[in-house]
Amino acid sequence: MEFRHLGRSGLMVSEISYGNWITHGSQVEEDAAFACVRAALDVGITTFDTADVYAGTRAEDVLGRALEGERREGLEIFTKVYWPTGPGRNDRGLSRKHIMESINGSLRRLRTDYVDLYQAHRYDHSTPLEETMEAFADVVRSGKALYIGVSEWRASEIREAHRLARELRIPLVSNQPQYSMLWRVIESEVVPTSEELGIGQIVWSPIAQGVLSGKYLPGQPPPAGSRATDEKSGAGFISRFMNDEVLTRVQRLKPLAEQAGLSMAQLAVAWVLQNPNVSSAIVGATRPEQVHDNVKAAGVKLDAELLKAIDEVIDPIVERDPARTESPAERP
Ligand SMILES: NC(=O)c1ccc[n+]([C@@H]2O[C@H](COP(=O)([O-])OP(=O)(O)OC[C@H]3O[C@@H](n4cnc5c(N)ncnc54)[C@H](OP(=O)(O)O)[C@@H]3O)[C@@H](O)[C@H]2O)c1
Repeated sequence: MEFRHLGRSGLMVSEISYGNWITHGSQVEEDAAFACVRAALDVGITTFDTADVYAGTRAEDVLGRALEGERREGLEIFTKVYWPTGPGRNDRGLSRKHIMESINGSLRRLRTDYVDLYQAHRYDHSTPLEETMEAFADVVRSGKALYIGVSEWRASEIREAHRLARELRIPLVSNQPQYSMLWRVIESEVVPTSEELGIGQIVWSPIAQGVLSGKYLPGQPPPAGSRATDEKSGAGFISRFMNDEVLTRVQRLKPLAEQAGLSMAQLAVAWVLQNPNVSSAIVGATRPEQVHDNVKAAGVKLDAELLKAIDEVIDPIVERDPARTESPAERP
């Protein structure tokens, strides 16, 4: 495993981190969830990402139990707040009340006294940013979180939060956006702003939810047990990539991966890690073999010719519009 600084902070994170959205507490049984966390630890992953909302709070509970007994100082545990965790009007968003209640629930489920990074899962247009940042400052000062991050925030939102964080003297160090060969919406605005402010990206869905592994073939039903067959939630989320044009072009990346001596999933993860503003790529997995496959992307250098050849294949299906970074206009 290779390690990088999280933004300009002193915190080191594993280049590849493990996340449990859709999988733990939902798509996969507990045995498989535990086996994947074990595999991640065995290959040197130290950074684990979850959220209060995943599987209706069950994902944090599964991760907490899977990591129980590990040396806490050897782990970086990240969670998030914003999406609804209960039926009430205040069980969501970034109000002071919800932040204070949600961090306590997350710590209880994760069986830890603190998280290393506490992230605003989206921007909350119904709460003054000052209120949110002051609540985060209190969470940090109480020792319940060491660093603060955001997720899917626009460049202008990151800049304003960073200004407030400086005033409050708390470390806002990261953004967690979707980023892959197919989804590059952060490149024109979020990345330059983050570089200027010393904020690192912890990127999600680097394999485009499994699509960039090349296992989904155009015109054919998805493989049994894959995310595209998970009617509970996965199939809906992955559907944006499940069309013949995308799947056909992705198949054309296969010879490029072979020439580079990489599996398709390794090529996808290595690709996001070529961006120096990326601190870590969060991969998901339903089986330990996937963790073993993906982790080999750490430390891989892709040459300029290969990057150009990739662009030529997928250019028409790449999403680049910075306006695609958006949070709900109203609290969900
Ligand atoms: N901040 C946010 O808003 C946000 C949103 C989404 C995700 N995230 C974070 O990012 C993490 C990763 O997201 P993701 O799970 O979508 O990432 P991903 O790594 O792009 O996709 C993971 C899925 O792809 C399949 N897969 C992984 N490795 C494979 C391999 N080597 N060969 C074939 N298939 C493979 C597996 O699904 P199957 O086996 O089921 O096909 C796996 O669950 C999440 O767990 C979460 O922590 C954050």
